[in-house]
Amino acid sequence: MTDTKFPAGFLWGAAASAYQVEGGIENTDWAKAACEGRVPECGRAADHYYRYEEDFNIARELGHTAHRLSVEWARIEPEEGKFDEREIAHYRKVLEALHARGITPYVTLWHFTLPLWFSERGGFEQKDSPEIFARYAAYVAERISDLCSRIGTINEPMVVGSQGWLTGEWPPFKRIPLIQRMAMQDRARVGELAPKVSWRHPFLYFFRVERNFIRAHNAAYDAIKRVAPHVEVSLVKHTVYFHSDGRLLNRLKARVANWYWTYRFMNRVIRKCDSIGLNYYQHKKFGDTATYEKSDMGWNIYPEGIYGALMLLWRYRKPLFVSEAGIADADDSRRADYIRRQVAGVAEAIAAGADVRAHLYWSLLDNYEWALGFEKRFGLVEVNYDTLERTVRPSAYVYKRIIEQNGMLD
Ligand code: BGC
Repeated sequence: MTDTKFPAGFLWGAAASAYQVEGGIENTDWAKAACEGRVPECGRAADHYYRYEEDFNIARELGHTAHRLSVEWARIEPEEGKFDEREIAHYRKVLEALHARGITPYVTLWHFTLPLWFSERGGFEQKDSPEIFARYAAYVAERISDLCSRIGTINEPMVVGSQGWLTGEWPPFKRIPLIQRMAMQDRARVGELAPKVSWRHPFLYFFRVERNFIRAHNAAYDAIKRVAPHVEVSLVKHTVYFHSDGRLLNRLKARVANWYWTYRFMNRVIRKCDSIGLNYYQHKKFGDTATYEKSDMGWNIYPEGIYGALMLLWRYRKPLFVSEAGIADADDSRRADYIRRQVAGVAEAIAAGADVRAHLYWSLLDNYEWALGFEKRFGLVEVNYDTLERTVRPSAYVYKRIIEQNGMLD
């Protein structure tokens, strides 16, 4: 048995996002793109909107003490400036259901999908988008902060920016053809999806949007604090762990890559973060000669890189939590080992001094994997999309044992 020493009170659980599991969300940019055949339909997804109690029962049985969810902006503000109290009432019930099961909620305000009215008037390209987002943030925080004291503003801003404005795989499908060709996972679809943006402007769009994300986070932070000063406000940062074989040039490449992907953004929001959520999936070692087993996403399996990713963020000396990390593994043959190695990596970061407070595996349920549809299976719990039946995967019990032992690995 390895003594991996997690602090008392460390929170364990899983994460999900509204659009990927709830079902029935039709007034977003993604739903519109699905109608146009540009991304797969999401439809009723896992029907979690109606089955959250059943799903949280499973989470409780699996020993989870925390759960990360997102609230759907398009449900809450279906028209500009018009808020739907019934949807807030729904999410309050969801949060109450978590509390009733002894599960601490983490809420994210925006996880990739935008209300149609907002995206159609230009989304985060608009100058006033930060204020619009902050108004929504304050509205939600005021109404849920008695039930949730951990609120994240934006999920993975750099990913949304890159996918939406560089590779053009996601709404609003603006792309720089060269970058798209290098990055697109499904090469057969290159060129089929998006009209090209004028060659003069693409980078300008990307940087404008990125700047507005930064302003939106910072404005939302202030807006939330005004209505709910006790809330711990975070940003959820997708962090690729760039490292090297130690050779000078490769070390330099890793530094530049970490600066571009992580620090450049974090440096401009960190003063308005009470904590930082880490989403970890990938690493890149410059000068690497190793070959890696691949996940169903085609990503190198290297869960121990979570240590490096946490240490990159620990430079800011703010409390950290693993807001997402996990593997697509349809036959569940690699997930248990992956989780063990990932948890060991988190323990290593804690031993090195990082203040990590929670580990939320991605994901509780199988879900809609964005432009890749429903085929990729990240869930601790398998979802049969025909019958909506849930089946707990064996690896979920390995995770349960880790949780029961507060991180001790068999
Ligand atoms: C996103 C999730 C997604 C996961 C796996 C993260 O970047 O936040 O929505 O399902 O990665 O690709």
